[in-house]
Amino acid sequence: MMKIVIVKAEDVGKAAFEEVKKVLCEKPDCTLGLATGSSPLPLYREMIRAYKDGLSYRNVTTYNLDEYVGLPKTHDQSYYYFMHKNLFSEIDLPEENTHIPDGTAPDMEKECARYSALLSAAKIDLQVLGIGGNGHIAFNEPGTPFTSKTHTVTLTEKTVLDNARFFDKIEDVPRTAVTMGIGEILKAKKILLIATGKNKADAVYKMIKGPVDVSCPASSLRDHPDVTVVLDEQAAAKL
Ligand code: F6R
Repeated sequence: MMKIVIVKAEDVGKAAFEEVKKVLCEKPDCTLGLATGSSPLPLYREMIRAYKDGLSYRNVTTYNLDEYVGLPKTHDQSYYYFMHKNLFSEIDLPEENTHIPDGTAPDMEKECARYSALLSAAKIDLQVLGIGGNGHIAFNEPGTPFTSKTHTVTLTEKTVLDNARFFDKIEDVPRTAVTMGIGEILKAKKILLIATGKNKADAVYKMIKGPVDVSCPASSLRDHPDVTVVLDEQAAAKL
């Protein structure tokens, strides 16, 4: 079941936080799946505001979706750095409760197996997602089987181009990433996907109205029992 919530751009954070708050209030020791990128930032700002207003994340556990391969944790484009800067350092979530795939592991195959094992032991109560302009979720690019587990991926040219704005030169954009698989994402009890801006309108349309097919990884969410999609008006423009 997909619930679609369309709000003004400035209300995306609040609308998304409503979903997270329900889970946190019901289960203060819940497990959250987290995403990076621009889409969840308004949500993270609301999570920080709620912490300042007295909400605690002390007993929360988190698992991130993905990480670039080869960027050290200290690199300002690593997802480790992103999560610490935009959320973890601002709230009382203990560092040892946070999990992000390690893109600097010497043996990435082993690292994928390690992360997969962690995920199959964990029960994610709510998974936060963004969506790529090509319909990807996490770094599961078009063509990825819906049963996939944590794996390394070669990023498509479109994703490399979309990400280039964050790097000095396009050659600096990593070409490989490690990502939670679609099969693992679909195991979350609830899913919250956030999409904003006109660049997402086509992908959002395909996710909701197109065929359920590997050509649009986000369309896999239509088979999930509890998905909330929070959109601003631009991302919802083609629905
Ligand atoms: C990030 C991730 C990606 C992004 C997607 C959209 O952890 O998994 O799938 O959600 O690329 O990125 P933004 O939000 O920057 O447009």
